[in-house]
Amino acid sequence: MSDSVNTPNGDGAELSVEDRIAAVRDAALAALSAAETPDSLQEWRNRYIGRSGEVTLLLRGVGSLPAEQRAEFGQAANRLKNEVEAAFDQREAEVKAASGPVGAIDVSLPGRKPTEGRLHPITQTVREITVAFGAMGFQTFEGPEVELERYNFDAMNIPFDHPAREMFDTFWLDRVDEEGDRNILLRTHTSPMQARIMESHEPPIRVVVPGRCYRYEATDASHEWHFNQVEVMAVDEGITFADLKGTLYEFARRVFGPERKVRFRCDFFPFVEPGVDLAVDCFNCEGDPACRICRGSGWLEILGAGMVHPEVLRRAGYDPERYTGFAAGMGVERVAMLKHGIDDIRHFYINDLRFLSQF
Ligand code: PHE
Repeated sequence: MSDSVNTPNGDGAELSVEDRIAAVRDAALAALSAAETPDSLQEWRNRYIGRSGEVTLLLRGVGSLPAEQRAEFGQAANRLKNEVEAAFDQREAEVKAASGPVGAIDVSLPGRKPTEGRLHPITQTVREITVAFGAMGFQTFEGPEVELERYNFDAMNIPFDHPAREMFDTFWLDRVDEEGDRNILLRTHTSPMQARIMESHEPPIRVVVPGRCYRYEATDASHEWHFNQVEVMAVDEGITFADLKGTLYEFARRVFGPERKVRFRCDFFPFVEPGVDLAVDCFNCEGDPACRICRGSGWLEILGAGMVHPEVLRRAGYDPERYTGFAAGMGVERVAMLKHGIDDIRHFYINDLRFLSQF
């Protein structure tokens, strides 16, 4: 039939254009007055005047009519479009009005609680550590994370060919010195600050230095390629190993609680002599072999320490015959993991609020 329009979603029934327009109009207006919510209005809009809505397709179909009919039916379809659009605007206003005045406040609703910010657990732990040492007269310093090889290794009595350099998997920066050697790196520990502070200060020195360190490591439950340390150093005339023990014991008591026992064992670091590591007895168990914090050993290692090596004092311009000192370096993540019973270091750095909001 010459006056029929087949729309893409038509059912194939051969209605005249007038009939088809009238049918769409009746259906559209009936559906519109039945729409009572913003959702159903949106559905209506998609169904009739959306991109493949019935009215839209009707209009589009006009183009395929014989030329002499196009003007007439085009106009009729356009009138339909304008009519249903106007009806839609009106219905939308009615639905809005029925759902209450715009901007009205329902005073019976519970208030919205603003989310509270908090300090990252590592920041909290750093502060706890520096506060514990602060109470014993230690000042807090910070230093560069991008460090010279000279401070990170040489000043710490780790010469170029010393096997201890193997202990640090290092991130070197691309800058080279006159000899063509790379000499700048992301610091592998906070110990270089021992030398920087001694060079710029007169004894007596009592400092703690928190800060980020970097090592080229594969990440696993107990290793991160970046982590935080707190360096501790006291240098003065007459400082002895007893001062080291007393200070670190008091630190462990303050941070881990008054019942803690402390164990010192020999350890090696090129920048101390003698060197030790320190463990506290496990606060989670009584030597339970299944303890997931100490793995049944009953002890938790928390730091390396020792008497500042005479060579380190000498390089910093101090007379080792006159001055002695002790130094310690602890991993902050390890302290936090032990304190809170956290079993994977990676939790700290994946920014999962379910974890972070527990602190
Ligand atoms: N710098 C050492 C490390 O990163 C820790 C340490 C510091 C040991 C000071 C002794 C004295 O492992």
